[in-house]
Amino acid sequence: MLCRKACNYNLINYLKIATQKPYSVIASVLENATVGEDTEVKGWVKNLRVQKHLIFADVSDGSCAQKLQIIIPKELKTDALTCGSSVHIRGKLSKSPRGQLELLAENIKVLGACVVLDGYPFNPRTTHPPEYIRQYIHLRSRTNYVSSILRVRNSLTRHIHDFYASKKYLNVHTPILTSNDCEGAGEMFKVQPECQDTVKAMMQEGKNEDTLYFGSKTYLSVSGQLHLEAICRGMGNVYTLGPTFRAENARSRLHLSEFYMLEAELAFCYSLEQLQNHIEELLKYLFVETRNTNEADLSVIDKENCKEPSWLRQKFVTLTYDEAQDILKKKKVASTEKGINKEQELALVDYCNGTPIFIVSWPKDLKSFYMKECQSDNSKVEALDLLAPITGEIVGGSLREDDYDRLKLKLPSEKLDWYLELRKFGNIPTGGYGLGLERLLQTMCGITNIKDTLPFPRWPHNCSM
Ligand code: 4AD
Ligand code: MG
Repeated sequence: MLCRKACNYNLINYLKIATQKPYSVIASVLENATVGEDTEVKGWVKNLRVQKHLIFADVSDGSCAQKLQIIIPKELKTDALTCGSSVHIRGKLSKSPRGQLELLAENIKVLGACVVLDGYPFNPRTTHPPEYIRQYIHLRSRTNYVSSILRVRNSLTRHIHDFYASKKYLNVHTPILTSNDCEGAGEMFKVQPECQDTVKAMMQEGKNEDTLYFGSKTYLSVSGQLHLEAICRGMGNVYTLGPTFRAENARSRLHLSEFYMLEAELAFCYSLEQLQNHIEELLKYLFVETRNTNEADLSVIDKENCKEPSWLRQKFVTLTYDEAQDILKKKKVASTEKGINKEQELALVDYCNGTPIFIVSWPKDLKSFYMKECQSDNSKVEALDLLAPITGEIVGGSLREDDYDRLKLKLPSEKLDWYLELRKFGNIPTGGYGLGLERLLQTMCGITNIKDTLPFPRWPHNCSM
């Protein structure tokens, strides 16, 4: 009886909500509106200009970079209507003398006041520097800078899925919990149960602290590659886009402890060139599509950087690791240490006038165990790093070692016997890559610090919220 009553109550409430007149999101109003139409919007006041008889308010609701101008007769103004307050406005759409769509307010309700003197950190009409905004992670989606970045990130994610869908790639959800260290650098976060009752009960079963829950040491994934390779060898082309974790002691403007990595594995991939062409096509597609969907956001983020980069119409540069070292010597930025450091990466991009560069044929000892040896020189592997403006390395990838015996010799742990076994049954040549979503956003939008590319950044000593 009680249950039926509760059901009826829920149904009535649902119907009440369902029959409420819907309000419009500003992006849709600006796209489809007709002058003279009765319209309701809800959002936040970004700017207020008070004139003799009228007040002009710019209202934003997060759906687009543009704000809707609201014309408010003075008699509708209350003290609570300030910058930062949240409002519900009903009125009629009209066109300003300059042809701009605006809403003539007939009714305004302030939903939440915003008293700046109570400690609201963002002043209207002030462009706060990103370092300042970053101190208020929980409030920063109210700034133009961060909201534009989050909208670009949202569109970029959609374009990524569209790109792979158009090529019939399978989207695979690779696990976050894993027992492998794909990159072999030891930069993993260990996962253990916190619940002491569980710990005690499992310890009594004779397990040790590290392995008591899963039976083996378990980590947050540093890459979904090995799992992708498993599915690729049964279903062909695959990709994944998901959270990735690195316990690096890096506090640079390019490193996060948690970031999103886009990884793809190409089936029947015989050459690095095949992989390079695919990556180049992906990046150009994402740049073009994002410019089409988020032009206004890109110009809010960085007016300078929002111009079309010249490399969109050029072929990316390819240099071998040795050729890159020769250029670095000529440019006098060589180093005694092996590898290519950040300063050198950026010097190389500069040398190529900002065109992205594939560095290929890497010394074997600088790269991971799964990479395929070069046929012409077995001290090198068929690996690539793609270097881009602002970030340097943005993509890391390779052909995979598909020879069972060679891979067996390089396998770092018998825990990866399953990975070796993939080469035993119906093996195929594959190649793949990982692209850091946050670094892509940095390059695409001209964002100097990676901590501004995602809503809640985590880095050493910082996991607030
Ligand atoms: O070069 P990485 O380590 O490659 C891999 O993990 C391969 N298993 C990928 C694959 O072949 N499926 O990482 C790939 C990219 C880097 O080029 C960089 O863009 C990004 O991931 N990345 C980071 N981004 C932010 N913070 C960090 N700490 C990052 N570490 C890597
Ligand atoms: Mg790398």
